[in-house]
Amino acid sequence: MDIKKNISLQSFNTFGMNVNAQEFVSIDSLKGLIDVLNTNPSHLFILGGGSNMLLTKDIDALVLHINLKGISVISTSNERVKVQVSAGESWHEFVSWCLSKDFGGLENLSLIPGNVGTAPIQNIGAYGVELKDRFVSCEAINIQTKELKIFSKDECEFGYRNSIFKHALKGEYIITSVVFELSTENHSIKINYGAIESELQKNGINNPSIQEVSKAVISIRNTKLPDPKILGNSGSFFKNPMISYSKFEVLKSQFPLIPHYKVSEVDVKVPAGWLIETTGFKGKTFGNYGVHNKQALVLVNYGGASGENILNLSIQIQKAVKLIFDIDLESEVNIL
Ligand code: EPU
Repeated sequence: MDIKKNISLQSFNTFGMNVNAQEFVSIDSLKGLIDVLNTNPSHLFILGGGSNMLLTKDIDALVLHINLKGISVISTSNERVKVQVSAGESWHEFVSWCLSKDFGGLENLSLIPGNVGTAPIQNIGAYGVELKDRFVSCEAINIQTKELKIFSKDECEFGYRNSIFKHALKGEYIITSVVFELSTENHSIKINYGAIESELQKNGINNPSIQEVSKAVISIRNTKLPDPKILGNSGSFFKNPMISYSKFEVLKSQFPLIPHYKVSEVDVKVPAGWLIETTGFKGKTFGNYGVHNKQALVLVNYGGASGENILNLSIQIQKAVKLIFDIDLESEVNIL
């Protein structure tokens, strides 16, 4: 067990925040993980791909970097395949692997940063597909008892950017692997969300393969979302808020162009990106940090900004949205 002291986490979080971990250990086997847990560290901090967190201070804990690797097909039947993926695999590399095997279902989730093991925690989603649509189960280890448990889809209680691992079981389990069910033939292509269809048409594609859908998603994401390897960011900083239909009607009378998605007979979701753009924050820079100029939901570190800078900016944005629309924006990233 190679526990290092005072390690910078800059390369382990996509915002590129230069904070230190008091102690750091990377594990690449289940046995290694259990060995670390058996030392009963007083403070433990679980690190996956670091793509959904804003680090505002040094971490006075043992940072446990989950680096478990491996992808295997566990069963095939009736045009379906079940694939088990270890938690430390990169999400996008896993999606690319699926596409290379012509396994369908995750192509709309191409290019999402982060690792497979943390993806279920917030039920990642994009372009009309959520992780839960292809999720079968995950294996997780209980940090206290060190027992492995299989969580079925129902037990995960998935919601919009949400799961039981964010609430009732927060901090209790470490996900070690995830099983997905994918199609091997007759893929169900989903291109009716956002700009996918027009992107395909632009390239003269009418009957797209899953690989072509992935290419279209990558191309759209590249025009709107900054690559964290180049510009520090954590994707959508806020969730799209849900409001009542009656409140929406009032807002619509003031802001006739307000976009919305119907959630139920009584609730609608409005895009946080639009709300933020309307407050005037889109594209604003404050020295070395700011709001992305192509997608107002994304806050960026141009280099050398602190977590406090980004946190303060997010609070300013929340206040502006509250003042103009009387809507509370909830952050999607974990602030630490
Ligand atoms: N919009 C604006 N201004 C902006 C951004 C968006 O007016 O600066 C408007 C758009 O014109 C559109 C609507 O808002 O009418 C929705 O925009 P978009 O399709 O870009 O999606 P989003 O709701 O802003 C969500 C996810 C993204 C995901 C996209 C595509 C959340 C919080 N975000 O963004 O997820 O990629 O849909 O499916 O649900 C992430 O979670 O990190 C992420 C990037």
